[in-house]
Parts: sequence; C-alpha cells; structure tokens
Amino acid sequence: MKTFTVLDQVARLEDQEWLDPIAGATRNIVGALFRPQWLRDLLHGVPIGHPLHPLAAQIPLGLWAGAAGLDIVPGTEKATTLLAGAGVLSALPAASAGLVDWAQLDTKQSRTGVVHAACVVTATGIYALSFLQRARGRHASGKLLGFAGFSVVLAGAFLGGHLSYRQTAGVNHTRDIEDTLPKGWHSLGRADDLPNGELQQRQVGDVRLVVLRTGSRVDALSGVCSHLGGPLAEGALLVGPAGTGACVECPWHKSVFSMRTGDVVHGPATTPQPCLETMVQDGEVFARLASANWD
Ligand code: FES
Repeated sequence: MKTFTVLDQVARLEDQEWLDPIAGATRNIVGALFRPQWLRDLLHGVPIGHPLHPLAAQIPLGLWAGAAGLDIVPGTEKATTLLAGAGVLSALPAASAGLVDWAQLDTKQSRTGVVHAACVVTATGIYALSFLQRARGRHASGKLLGFAGFSVVLAGAFLGGHLSYRQTAGVNHTRDIEDTLPKGWHSLGRADDLPNGELQQRQVGDVRLVVLRTGSRVDALSGVCSHLGGPLAEGALLVGPAGTGACVECPWHKSVFSMRTGDVVHGPATTPQPCLETMVQDGEVFARLASANWD
C-alpha cells in the first residue's frame, strides 16, 4: 500500500541539520532542570521497567480526545472546560518524562524529537488558551482552540510513534540475543585470561558479551546496551548501591547495570541487560543465557 506523500516528509526530519542547535540548547535546559539522578530515573521509567513517557502521554491525550468529542454535544460546556484544563495539567509530567528521554537520544532521533516536542508544547499552549476562554464563558472560541490543539497534538503523537517504531527510540535493543545466541553452554576462554576486576569483551558467534571476573566469580551480560546499543565492554566499572555488587556504566548515555543480575540501576535504560549464567570448569569459563531452560 502506498503511504501518503506528506508522511514521507516525516522520514526526512532526521536529516534536518538545522534542528541541531535547537536540540543542543534544549538539551542544556533539560540537563539543568532535571539534575537529580532519582528524578531522572523516575521520569525515564526505571521503577516500572518501561519508558514512562508513552504511558503518561495517554492521560492528556485521552482527556483532550474526550473534550473534542463532547464539544460537538450541546450542553457539555462544564465538562469540556474541565477536560481541557485537566489535560493541560497532566501534560506537564508527561512532557517532563518525554524530555528526559529525548535528551539521551542520538542525533537523528533528536531532530525528530525536537519537532515532536514542539507540536506537544504548542498543543498544550493552545489548550491552555482554550481552557481560559471556556472559563470566561467564551465557549465558541474555546471549542475552536480545542479543535486546533487536538489537531496539533495528533501530529505530535504521530511523530512520537515514528520516533519509536521507525527510529527505535525507547525500545529494547537486546531483544534479539535469544535468537542469535546459540543454545547451550559457550566457552569464554580461560579464567586466567580474564584480568581480575576488569571489564572484558567476549564474543560468541555474532553476540557480544561484557564479562567481569572477580576472584573466582565470573559475571557476563549482553555487551549491547538495551538503551541504544552502546558497547558496554568499553564502559566504566562502578561500585553499585548495596545489594547490586559491581556495575557497568554504558559509555554512551551512562545507564548503569548490575553485573550480577543485569538489572537497571540508573537510566536512561529501562530494560535489564540479558544476564548469562556462568560456570568455571577446569579453569575454563562457560556461559549460557540465564533465562533459557537449555541443556
Ligand atoms: S546506549 Fe544509551 S545508555 Fe547505553
């Protein structure tokens, strides 16, 4: 099926270099506004194991869709005023979550994200005006503004979908390990060849792993960061919070994962790293996917 020509233009947003200075300035503002690590982790969605933004965005979108629907029904002025105003309030946390995610995207994703954010901010402003007009009893102009805001927010939602589904922002980049890592145990070489307390890269077929030996213990995770595919073996080794043991920090956007479990300690990643079960036999290290029930 042929796509609408106008929608083809969306794919070209990622090549618009003139958006880069806007993205750079916005990124600085986001960095200054959302400085505490716990706040960024919360807004990324680390506690729920998924990005928070798509979930949070459903609330204003639903409220505004309700307002648009009721606007064509006579006698619903009170309800639509409330829906428009509640949408504006609920857009603030949704936008905050989106901004902290956006600030950790790559260059091409950031360009599309700038336009997505501009649509959403514009729509929120239009709905704020719509609410004020309705609150003053000027319901005709409030409705017109509401329909305009709804059109703009739908354009923003379309771009958000493009960003996730076409440009793979916010999706798990380690999902294919279960298909690409051959079943069973795999040799990672001699334990003596793994320097104690240093991150190392090992390869099984096409699958990259990050491996850490600590004394007689060996931990291994997928070496491709679940956030955007960063090379974890080139990251930093950190001492994690109590109970997490040694952690690896991704060199690209500083996500932190427990080497013992693959759990996310800090975002922007929200998906845990696939963790491999290991054993040492006659001085040789073997590993297999811990989640797989394989012989
Ligand atoms: S690729 Fe972004 S934190 Fe690893």
